[in-house]
Amino acid sequence: MKLIWTLDVPVEPVWTALMQCAADYACVCEGISRPCAAAVRLCDDAAIRELNAAHRGIDRSTDVLSFPLMDYAPGQTAGTCGNALAEIYDDEVNACMLGDLVISTGHVTAQAEEYGHSVQREAAYLLVHGLCHLFGYDHIDPEDQRRMRAMEEKILGGIGITRDGDGTVSDETLRALARSARERSYSPYSRYAVGAALLCADGRVFQGCNVENASYGATMCAERTAVFKAVSEGEAEFTAIAIAAQGSAPWPCGLCRQVLNEFAPDIRVLITWEGGDDEAPLSALLPHGFGPKDLL
Ligand code: THU
Repeated sequence: MKLIWTLDVPVEPVWTALMQCAADYACVCEGISRPCAAAVRLCDDAAIRELNAAHRGIDRSTDVLSFPLMDYAPGQTAGTCGNALAEIYDDEVNACMLGDLVISTGHVTAQAEEYGHSVQREAAYLLVHGLCHLFGYDHIDPEDQRRMRAMEEKILGGIGITRDGDGTVSDETLRALARSARERSYSPYSRYAVGAALLCADGRVFQGCNVENASYGATMCAERTAVFKAVSEGEAEFTAIAIAAQGSAPWPCGLCRQVLNEFAPDIRVLITWEGGDDEAPLSALLPHGFGPKDLL
């Protein structure tokens, strides 16, 4: 899912990284087959209060506001409305524009403290709540509320956010996040789009895609994009990486094996393509690898 950000308030990149994973996995859970986008604005309490007063007649700040663009038929949501989503296809963003979300960073910080969990977790929770509204869910009557809550929990649980603390990201979710990352591949030269999702020891996931270059040689693979994003954000302990492509089994190239070996010689490598799923430990893909241990 394409998120179009407006950051009135600067936030740690870890917020937006987790929110991107949450949005990608939300589309998977909802079963949306078309490319989708949403505009997400992170603002302060005063700005959200103004919007709340202007659009809902409620003159107080709130945590999240959703402005869906799609008028769903009764009982339908984004995943079940079939071709109707085409009505909101936006040529400029090359995706179905589901609507706008506004999230107050003041509420994110205060609520994270109140519930005793991380700010990025609260930000992801509010994003998922707002996205469910953009998908057509509501919580006015108890049955609708139950459906919306179940969907929120499915999405959050899948990316490792559970009521009782941080859960684990399953192999299936990691592969789904790699497939979503692949949608953002920049590969006009090879037309071989690759996506990766790297699971860190602390439960965070960094996504990456291949980014090609007219010089060809300056191209970066999806796996190394994900690794370099993680290391540059301070995380260098990895437990698994999922890689997604189409056409052939996307086992990592030699350079990516070498870079993974630098940080995680025992990492599990999961692949997914139209031929199915497979996995191997890096130690089997790079036997007798040369790494930091050899320079001690
Ligand atoms: N590619 C990856 O992203 N990962 C690999 O491990 C193998 C190759 C990309 C690089 C380039 O953009 C395209 O696939 C064709 O080589």
